[in-house]
Amino acid sequence: MNDAMIQCESLGRTYRRGDVEIKPLRNVDLLINKGEFVAMMGPSGSGKTTLLNIIAGIDRPTNGRVLVNGVDIKSLSSARLADWRAKTVGYVFQLYNLIPVLSAYENVEVPLLLKRMSRKARHAAISEAMIRVGIADRSDHYPRQLSGGQEQRVAIARAIVTKPSLLVADEPTGDLDSHAAIEVMELIKQLNTDLGMTVLMVTHDDSIAGHAGRLIHLLDGHVTTADTKIAGRIA
Ligand SMILES: Nc1ncnc2c1ncn2[C@@H]1O[C@H](COP(=O)(O)OP(=O)(O)OP(=O)(O)O)[C@@H](O)[C@H]1O
Ligand SMILES: [Mg+2]
Repeated sequence: MNDAMIQCESLGRTYRRGDVEIKPLRNVDLLINKGEFVAMMGPSGSGKTTLLNIIAGIDRPTNGRVLVNGVDIKSLSSARLADWRAKTVGYVFQLYNLIPVLSAYENVEVPLLLKRMSRKARHAAISEAMIRVGIADRSDHYPRQLSGGQEQRVAIARAIVTKPSLLVADEPTGDLDSHAAIEVMELIKQLNTDLGMTVLMVTHDDSIAGHAGRLIHLLDGHVTTADTKIAGRIA
């Protein structure tokens, strides 16, 4: 059995803007096993979001290989990639990215609209996700009627409603006060421990990174792995 959830081999991404080439990722080698909770840190512009987007199948690498749950995502057509992404990856953003004209319930429903599913099965999945993140009593609220922490919990429910095996989170607490940030971290930790979801999370905050089981750094286009388990302090 293969224990790997994410395998990046010599992964590179080059962007071109006119005559200028930007290479945020040059040579990324990374192995994350199923069930791990990994925090990723690195300076602004070091390519953290770029790497998450490639792993989530939103962006494509220029060089190298990336396997997610055993699938070489570069080999998938755009249509199959969208299908694969919907089944495999949940994505949580810093600024929640909820749709303002939809209620909390309807926001969580969005990923399920791509699936063939009865209304009843959809309702059951949405309710389960909303209960898990503790936001079921806000179903009818619109994003503007929610606090930041509540908005992020709705966004997490939306990310997990399809029961993905991988959750990627890009500074999920970056816009929250410390109290809401800790609640969101506890929630993400529970998804990892209770549901066995593999989590890859970007953060700029040492204390937030301390919640993860392992810390990696992105610097100069590649990943440096810290082997030791972190305990709230990063050397
Ligand atoms: N679509 C794109 N086209 C051109 N350049 C891009 C594109 N996306 C990212 N870049 C460039 O790639 C580099 C890495 O960007 P990225 O967003 O991955 O950094 P980051 O580590 O997430 O930074 P931050 O901590 O500020 O979020 C930056 O120099 C950015 O300008
Ligand atoms: Mg970023």
